[in-house]
Amino acid sequence: MNSPTPLIAGNWKMNGLASSIAEAKAVAQGVGATSARVAICPPSILVHRMSEALQGTKVLVGGQDVHADDSGAFTGDISAEMLADAGAKLVILGHSERREAYRESDELVARKVLAALRHGLEPIVCVGETIDQRKAGEALKVVTGQVRGSLPPELNGKAFAVAYEPIWAIGTGLTPNNLQIEEVHGAIRTTLAEMFGEAAQRVPILYGGSVKPSNAAEILHACEVGGALVGGASLKADDFLAIVRAV
Ligand code: 13P
Repeated sequence: MNSPTPLIAGNWKMNGLASSIAEAKAVAQGVGATSARVAICPPSILVHRMSEALQGTKVLVGGQDVHADDSGAFTGDISAEMLADAGAKLVILGHSERREAYRESDELVARKVLAALRHGLEPIVCVGETIDQRKAGEALKVVTGQVRGSLPPELNGKAFAVAYEPIWAIGTGLTPNNLQIEEVHGAIRTTLAEMFGEAAQRVPILYGGSVKPSNAAEILHACEVGGALVGGASLKADDFLAIVRAV
């Protein structure tokens, strides 16, 4: 069975201005002959400009969220069609910051996945437990429940990724050890196989949460880790490139 092509995606979150496009260009210039797919997901207002700046390079541009509907009276939201129209190829969905701050449920995330599929965007669907859930021994139950609830059957055979981001590791400098990562990624792989059969083997399972140049190689070589979703360390081209090179 071939392993999926690794994906290293940068999530800029609510960071970056027009001047930050230079950082994305530096990533494109430095990326070289990597075996990984590389993506940057800037704030939506930069997607169009960044897509144009990175045209013809190896670096893909993605969004960080979309509305579940295609159009309508949803002040302040953007649709999957708009994101695709602006040049995005991927979209992060169900990030824990959105699940927490905007009360996004698994059901809503699944509807957003369908919106992404309607418009040819490759979803990166995020899952992950809180520290309290981990301490209570519920990490696997929570994460596999999110996988089942957030991934609609229509994904079968489509290109998508799952990102395991333990909430307690995001922006904290803390990371699970490789045994903990492998346990969760293994459970996600088993769940994907139950849901999608053979096609599940082609889904990269990314790790996210305090990935940086100093820990990237160790994490990326853990079993079933098919790439990384990188927050803070994706904002600086040199750091992000060091992570790409660790694949
Ligand atoms: P950090 O890499 O800053 O911990 O963020 C991880 C994350 O949330 C990526 O989506």
